[in-house]
Amino acid sequence: MAVGVPAGAARSNTEFEISYKGKISQAEILSRVRPKSFRVLHQPDHPTDNTLYFGDNLDILEGLAADDRLAGQTQMIYIDPPYATNSRFSNRNLEFAYEDTIDGADFLEFLRQRLILMRELLSNDGAIYVHLDSKMIFETKLIMDEIFGPKNFRSFITRKKSNPKNFSKKQFGNVSDYLLFYSKSKSMKFNLQHTPWTEEAGNKEYPYIEEKTGRRFKKVPIHAPGVRNGATGREWRGMLPPPGKHWQYTPERLDEMDAKGEIYWSPTGNPRRKIYLDSAPGVAMQNIWLEYKDAHNQNIKITGYPTEKNLDLLKTVIRASSDEGDLVLDAFAGSGTTLEASASLGRRWIGIDNSSLAIKTIEDRFELGSAKMGDFRPKTAAAQTALDLGERRAKDFWIKELSD
Ligand SMILES: C[S@@+](CC[C@H](N)C(=O)[O-])C[C@H]1O[C@@H](n2cnc3c(N)ncnc32)[C@H](O)[C@@H]1O
Repeated sequence: MAVGVPAGAARSNTEFEISYKGKISQAEILSRVRPKSFRVLHQPDHPTDNTLYFGDNLDILEGLAADDRLAGQTQMIYIDPPYATNSRFSNRNLEFAYEDTIDGADFLEFLRQRLILMRELLSNDGAIYVHLDSKMIFETKLIMDEIFGPKNFRSFITRKKSNPKNFSKKQFGNVSDYLLFYSKSKSMKFNLQHTPWTEEAGNKEYPYIEEKTGRRFKKVPIHAPGVRNGATGREWRGMLPPPGKHWQYTPERLDEMDAKGEIYWSPTGNPRRKIYLDSAPGVAMQNIWLEYKDAHNQNIKITGYPTEKNLDLLKTVIRASSDEGDLVLDAFAGSGTTLEASASLGRRWIGIDNSSLAIKTIEDRFELGSAKMGDFRPKTAAAQTALDLGERRAKDFWIKELSD
């Protein structure tokens, strides 16, 4: 198995390391990588098919990283670990889920050891997203720079996690948390995501309406900076490109576009290209995400597991950093939001959690689905809520084999 610092992580005198008590060497962490057998709740034919592991992810990641069929094969990793909140979390039925009591340097080392192992699992064009709040995100950024290399840092995403709260403390209301997005190398797979135009923004950006078709469009130049001697520097319809510029297309292609009505001619005879609103993918996503609040009204579907994340948030990062058939890992799977998002997008997944309630919730989620938040009524099991509300959904691709 290939281990070590990835491309882009080379040391130079512009870089620094964070030091704290109890920080062990990468070599020591990687020396623990060895084949292991685990309690696997679903045993597929191949270890990269949908698999749920129950246990401490340190142990499990050490074992997975020793498996040549897995090391370097994971396209994307999302983790939403404990946040060092010093809390004990239970689900809506007050069943114990997990404790989040590791803090400070211990927290950082807890995460660092696991991140180093996850790096070994990532494919060379893979990516990792780490979801945290303001408590440990900054220390974690430094640690991720060390592990993945500052050059492989891609985005610091701010997510609006909740509606404004009626806040009386001497500080601004806290409605955000954060995702750190890193790649393993320069050659990362990335599918740019777009948010659809709002009517107002679309009308503003695409102010013209084509008479014949009623399609909304904007006008953009058909030339670009730089002189070219080839076809794009030639005369078109008796016009040369403006000084210092070239046509964006060959004269033949411009003729074709004009014949299709895709060129706008100004009253003074200036050609411009029409870009239509209905063929624009939307606005390229930026790094502030306001649309992915966690369950905040009674119609949102949830499992009832504490700290459950927004399903659409997961779908967005999975779409951005993987393709159908790719393998997605969540080593702090919780209620299985990443696993459901992966399955629904045709990705394969590996989930790990050491909470028996998390495992039960994931099983229920795949068997029964989630249920609208509704008015809360305590039940013996989260799954019962789903059943009561008639939300039963067949997820037989997974649970069937689990119950074999
Ligand atoms: C913040 S929750 C994840 C919530 C999840 N993203 C969701 O949408 O439901 C963190 C999860 O990490 C799990 N966890 C904490 N420490 C772990 C460890 N050492 N090994 C495996 N799982 C762990 C907890 O049991 C908990 O389910």
